[in-house]
Amino acid sequence: MKRSKELETLSWEHHDGLVIAARIKNDLKKEANPVHLLPYIDDIYTNYLRHHFKQEEDSFLIPIKPFPEAGDLIKRMLDEHQQFAEIFAQIDPLDSEVFVYVGRFGELLHDHIRFEERQLFPLIEKLLNAEQLKKIERYLRREHKPIPRECKI
Ligand SMILES: [Fe+2]
Repeated sequence: MKRSKELETLSWEHHDGLVIAARIKNDLKKEANPVHLLPYIDDIYTNYLRHHFKQEEDSFLIPIKPFPEAGDLIKRMLDEHQQFAEIFAQIDPLDSEVFVYVGRFGELLHDHIRFEERQLFPLIEKLLNAEQLKKIERYLRREHKPIPRECKI
């Protein structure tokens, strides 16, 4: 399904996120200890993903409140945003299990984006009216921050 113009900047960020998730998966397959991923994930999470999650929460939580049919999907979005924080906190370069958590981080990134694109965003586009979506769009265009795809380390 094609994304609405109002939410498209979030979907551009999702596209970048899927590229990053694929990169993590691929590097974990190729190397036992892809240490170059650690500062990259730190940068991506701290400077881009957290900002992306904030944009979603600022945009959706208030206008979607009157629609109980969206409750489960909004709860899943929030739970998963929280899971990123928890997994990120477990990514410790000194831990011998660090790449288990890196793998989980990449999988969650992939699955979370698929969930939002396939389930959450279509429902939001259906439930909110044109004026609400327009207001969200103005905010999102101001806040949009492309996620760098290349690992520079
Ligand atoms: Fe998202």
